[in-house]
Amino acid sequence: METRLLLLFLSVTVLLMDAANAQMPGFVSFDCGGSENFTDDLGLWWTSDDQLMYGEIATISVANETRKQYTTLRHFPADNRKYCYTLDVISRTRYLVRATFLYGNFDNNKVYPKFDISLGATPWSTIVISDANTIESSELIFLASDPTISVCLSNATTGQPFISTLELRQFNGSIYYTEYEEDFFLSVSARVNFGADSEAPVRYPDDPFDRIWESDSLKKANYLVDVAPGTEKVSTQMPIDVNKDSRPPEKVMQTAVVGRNGTLSYRLNLDGFPGFGWAFTYLAEIEDLGPEETRKFRLILPNMPDLSKPAVNIQENAQGKYRLYEPGYPNISLPFVLSFKFGKTSDSSQGPLLNAMEINKYLEKRDGCLDGSAIASIVLQYSSEDWAKEGGDPCLPVPWSWVACNSDPQPRIVSIHLSGKNLTGNIPTDLTKLSGLVELWLDGNALAGPIPDFTGLINLKTIHLENNQLSGELPSSLVDLQSLKELYVQNNMLSGKVPSGLLNENLDFNYSGNDNLHKGSTGGRHIGIIIGSSVGAVVLLIATIASCLFMHKGKKRYYEQDQLGHGLPAQRIVSSLNDAATEAANCFSLSEIEDATRKFEKKIGSGGFGVVYYGKMKDGKEIAVKVLINNSYQGNREFSNEVTLLSRIHHRNLVQFLGYCQEEGRSMLVYEFMHNGTLKEHLYGPLTRERAISWIKRLEIAEDAAKGIEYLHTGCVPSIIHRDLKSSNILLDKYMKAKVSDFGLSKLAVDGSSHVSSVVRGTVGYLDPEYYISQQLTDKSDVYSFGVILLELISGQEAISNESFGVNCRNIVQWAKLHIESGDIQGIIDPSLRDEYDIQSMWKIAEKALMCVQPHGSMRPPISEVIKEIQEAISIERGAEAAREGNSDASRNSIHSSINMGIDVGPTENYLSFDESIARPTPR
Ligand SMILES: *[C@@H]1O[C@H](CO)[C@@H](O)[C@H](O)[C@H]1NC(C)=O
Ligand SMILES: *[C@@H]1O[C@H](CO)[C@@H](O)[C@H](O)[C@H]1NC(C)=O
Ligand SMILES: *[C@@H]1O[C@H](CO)[C@@H](O)[C@H](O)[C@H]1NC(C)=O
Ligand SMILES: *[C@@H]1O[C@H](CO)[C@@H](O)[C@H](O)[C@H]1NC(C)=O
Ligand SMILES: *[C@@H]1O[C@H](CO)[C@@H](O)[C@H](O)[C@H]1NC(C)=O
Ligand SMILES: *[C@@H]1O[C@H](CO)[C@@H](O)[C@H](O)[C@H]1NC(C)=O
Ligand SMILES: *[C@@H]1O[C@H](CO)[C@@H](O)[C@H](O)[C@H]1NC(C)=O
Repeated sequence: METRLLLLFLSVTVLLMDAANAQMPGFVSFDCGGSENFTDDLGLWWTSDDQLMYGEIATISVANETRKQYTTLRHFPADNRKYCYTLDVISRTRYLVRATFLYGNFDNNKVYPKFDISLGATPWSTIVISDANTIESSELIFLASDPTISVCLSNATTGQPFISTLELRQFNGSIYYTEYEEDFFLSVSARVNFGADSEAPVRYPDDPFDRIWESDSLKKANYLVDVAPGTEKVSTQMPIDVNKDSRPPEKVMQTAVVGRNGTLSYRLNLDGFPGFGWAFTYLAEIEDLGPEETRKFRLILPNMPDLSKPAVNIQENAQGKYRLYEPGYPNISLPFVLSFKFGKTSDSSQGPLLNAMEINKYLEKRDGCLDGSAIASIVLQYSSEDWAKEGGDPCLPVPWSWVACNSDPQPRIVSIHLSGKNLTGNIPTDLTKLSGLVELWLDGNALAGPIPDFTGLINLKTIHLENNQLSGELPSSLVDLQSLKELYVQNNMLSGKVPSGLLNENLDFNYSGNDNLHKGSTGGRHIGIIIGSSVGAVVLLIATIASCLFMHKGKKRYYEQDQLGHGLPAQRIVSSLNDAATEAANCFSLSEIEDATRKFEKKIGSGGFGVVYYGKMKDGKEIAVKVLINNSYQGNREFSNEVTLLSRIHHRNLVQFLGYCQEEGRSMLVYEFMHNGTLKEHLYGPLTRERAISWIKRLEIAEDAAKGIEYLHTGCVPSIIHRDLKSSNILLDKYMKAKVSDFGLSKLAVDGSSHVSSVVRGTVGYLDPEYYISQQLTDKSDVYSFGVILLELISGQEAISNESFGVNCRNIVQWAKLHIESGDIQGIIDPSLRDEYDIQSMWKIAEKALMCVQPHGSMRPPISEVIKEIQEAISIERGAEAAREGNSDASRNSIHSSINMGIDVGPTENYLSFDESIARPTPR
């Protein structure tokens, strides 16, 4: 085992944990950020994590959460480091590890944290906080292969990584054995106690392993919904024989649900799926059936007819009443949205019964860094130093702060940066085993003894050993390092003769300040020159590294940002690349415009800002000319601000601004012409019935538009808030690619503050209620509007309608929310999509849309997160589409092409539509 030594070492030094104080053998419970040890109401012993040297402590207070461990947390800087807890375990033993996160607004940040956790080198989960007062929790079941494990937090997307509790529970016997356990962890997706008598979970002491059995009465959106009529809770006080391994605790088995009308059905979201998983049901006959009565039933999984064959008769299978029977699948492929049913067989008098269920996903273990054991023995020499205590894998998922690694699946260390760390003793010879090493920085320490033989480190380019107390000769093996470009050994106590092979112009070599080190007979004369030129070379080298970093970003990562000082923020660089076309706004003459539009002959849209005309330039380029109505721009100044802003914004998902014209008191903006009009026209209205856009196309349109919005929010400095997103502002080009238009309304967001106050503008139905009330505009107002657009894409309904949504409801948000939250997504899906969509991708979008229209901006996801979700939905849908195409004709293709030809040249109404119902209250 490569990493054994490392882990052994960590257990000796980091010693965060010793299980001696845990009340239950094999239990460890960390109260992160806590200041004292205590026993909780359940009888669990909690210890403070005060020996962790990283992070800061915060105290929080959340309504109705009185458990002491949830009054504190530990948070870490949002940097590119990882922060690890190291726990002792017994090798070859199975454990449950649980990390929980209660945000409690500890930092009052405007975005909720989202970050990664890992177990050793394996990415475990991304923790996404979506509510300040809800505890997020993540659990893994694993077979320990080493004497310690590390749970690490690292920066991911937003906010600061933090943790509330870390719990380790040791299992007994063969429970959770799987044939894949050497290579896979089990990530817990669902563990449900059916028929529970309250919403409280069952855990320790009822469960001796302190697993948390969720109550089935705790119905979250799309979690345990679609319950069949006739579902009843039953319970018993009789003891249940749960056999030696204590599968579910007795208390869980004493309650169940029964499908009185012959069926039990449920639907639930499975975190982490689709994928392969471990799924078991726990059944015990707890009703007293008459002698003539039978209970036989089958599992019915849609699309998996093979699994529906075996019938269950609990009493027979368990060989008695009140005894556990646990049918299940040790490896089954499951979707993200799992709908399952139990149906009674025709010869059964009683409906099905279900006591509990557990579903875990297989999570593949990742191999750690190949240099694990060599680096472990190096840190072992310096075990009391902070840098030696970082924990976890040296390279994965992110490297230690003083190490850089290559991006191989099993990485190697490519650089070591330990300058000025007070290192003493000899240079660790284990360094010579790091066969991928490119850079070695050990300068400015108190290292003594000889320079070791680096033969074999064929990639070694840079060696910095200056300013130490090294002695002995310069090894002649240095001459054989073919890649060596830089060798600094000045200011040591080296002696003897400089190997002549080192004195060549290709090597940046500095050996001054070693009184007894000489270059043959005439040593010393060139030193000044060498130093001088080497300084120049360093500057050059740094410049080279810097430019390479940006060129190869993502490919190689051995030059980490830290070593570069702080270069340009990456985002700026990206945006300036995108802005390659940036130039001063193009000024058209009125006569040019008149020629192009044939004196404003063809009107293609109108709105609150003016009328839009079709035009064609001399070179054949088609344009849309927006003639602003006179009073919308009082002065030239405002107009030129607007134009300057517009000319700076370039993105493939934004309608291209071509220039402006201001003559004879008229102001005009010129845009590229979008052949397929607005998204709105394609979703509803007269054109749509016979040629509705397919679900996959809708998803692609959503992705395009979201990318345009993301660019406004994050790609521009300062960022831009659109303020009037709606389906009539999303335009479609010849190829049905979507672009966002009308960001003329946008005002620059004030740099560095979270919102700008301004007159509320926008369109009823899309308007962020928080913005409306507070008049505080943030990028989350756009996210709200985009959520409404997603709902339109799902349903094909207008945002506001007097008829469509039933009595007392005019608004798509209210209506959709009602349906989605009760699990009835079918009730809102556009009927013109027929059955040509995948329900999972639909759910993904529906749920994200609801997140986007949360009442408070802080609860809405950033647009980048929405994009990710859309992309996942697209890949699910593509998979499903391929499957559907396998057994149907290619009818969808013809739908696509009919759209492309259909509206090509005709005048598109509403090019720039502006709903009459515009909300424009004045500020106080
Ligand atoms: C809590 O217990 C651990 C050992 O389990 C001990 O090392 C630590 O000092 C204790 N902390 C406090 C604050 O008492
Ligand atoms: C907290 O508990 C009180 C009383 O038990 C209850 O009225 C209130 O709704 C609870 N608040 C929350 C946020 O759950
Ligand atoms: C944290 O991660 C995000 C997303 O990867 C990145 O944009 C940000 O720069 C990181 N923060 C630091 C300090 O590295
Ligand atoms: C684990 O197994 C031992 C011996 O088989 C038993 O004494 C102990 O109670 C078990 N622990 C739990 C939590 O079941
Ligand atoms: C169960 O089925 C019967 C007969 O089919 C029906 O009358 C009854 O309403 C059903 N019960 C429920 C709760 O749906
Ligand atoms: C589960 O089954 C699939 C397909 O039969 C197989 O590819 C996979 O390796 C198995 N194990 C896991 C842990 O996924
Ligand atoms: C090195 O040691 C000196 C003296 O012990 C101490 O003052 C200094 O802070 C140390 N430097 C580092 C980087 O640890």
